[in-house]
Amino acid sequence: MTRSLFSLDNQIAIVTGACGKLGPVWADALLEAGARVAAFELPGAPASPVYAALAKGAGDRLRRFDCDVTDRASLEAAVARLAADVGEPTVLINNAGVDQPPDAAGRRSRIGELPIDQFRRMVEVNLLGTFQATQIVGTRMAAQGRGSIVNIGSLYASVSPDQRFYDHLPGDLPFLKSPAYGASKAAVVNLTKYFATLWGPSGVRVNTLSPGGVAGGQDDQFRTKYGARVPLGRMAQPEDLKGPLVFLASAASSYVTGHELRVDGGFTAW
Ligand SMILES: NC(=O)c1ccc[n+]([C@@H]2O[C@H](COP(=O)([O-])OP(=O)(O)OC[C@H]3O[C@@H](n4cnc5c(N)ncnc54)[C@H](O)[C@@H]3O)[C@@H](O)[C@H]2O)c1
Repeated sequence: MTRSLFSLDNQIAIVTGACGKLGPVWADALLEAGARVAAFELPGAPASPVYAALAKGAGDRLRRFDCDVTDRASLEAAVARLAADVGEPTVLINNAGVDQPPDAAGRRSRIGELPIDQFRRMVEVNLLGTFQATQIVGTRMAAQGRGSIVNIGSLYASVSPDQRFYDHLPGDLPFLKSPAYGASKAAVVNLTKYFATLWGPSGVRVNTLSPGGVAGGQDDQFRTKYGARVPLGRMAQPEDLKGPLVFLASAASSYVTGHELRVDGGFTAW
């Protein structure tokens, strides 16, 4: 009985930005729970090796659709194609996002000179993209009287990045994690509450899943500094994220809406 609450059999789930680092983690979890999955991804965006391996094993239970979440017409076309070819979506994972990895020292700027276009792009994808996908897919869900939407937030929705994590990186200017990232994610947490209250009576639940930093490609010093700051003593592994995602997507969380589930090893408890 309890196990069946976590089942996503007969569900159709959309994952936006599905071909990057975390998209395949969500897609894998949803497939394992029984859903069919639509990967909404930018046309021509490269698929990570993890996504490619997943797609090979999943056959037609995982299909990719060209979609730019910042472009309303592209979103509408992808959803219409999904509905015609597979069926009406019942789960939406708003995962598409842009962050600013510590990159070449030459592209850094002081806070006083931070280019506004960089700020605008993060807000456009992380916040406006989430809003627009929710508008289009969620309205269809509300008309059907069912659905679960999970917005992917971040620990930086709650706290400011500790810039000392990056102070070992070489370069004339220190690497400064953008203020736009956390600001856009904090706004997503509020947007979650807006739609949770609007669509509660229509049977659509809306929650945020906020991961902490996920291990993969970071340098040793960063991992050591970050891990020392986490009560559970380490970065997240992809497997840590699957259970919370399936919980929020499925009937296991049938009385949970408007919630931010932080999956951060306790980072924000300290
Ligand atoms: N990786 C982490 O440690 C971490 C931690 C906390 C939160 N997050 C969040 O998780 C989500 C996924 O992060 P990730 O690490 O997989 O990033 P990623 O850069 O590896 O993948 C993001 C994907 O989104 C796609 N994308 C970008 N703009 C898009 C658009 N306009 N329309 C459709 N797709 C678009 C990209 O092509 C890419 O495939 C993001 O929202 C991110 O903020 C990540």
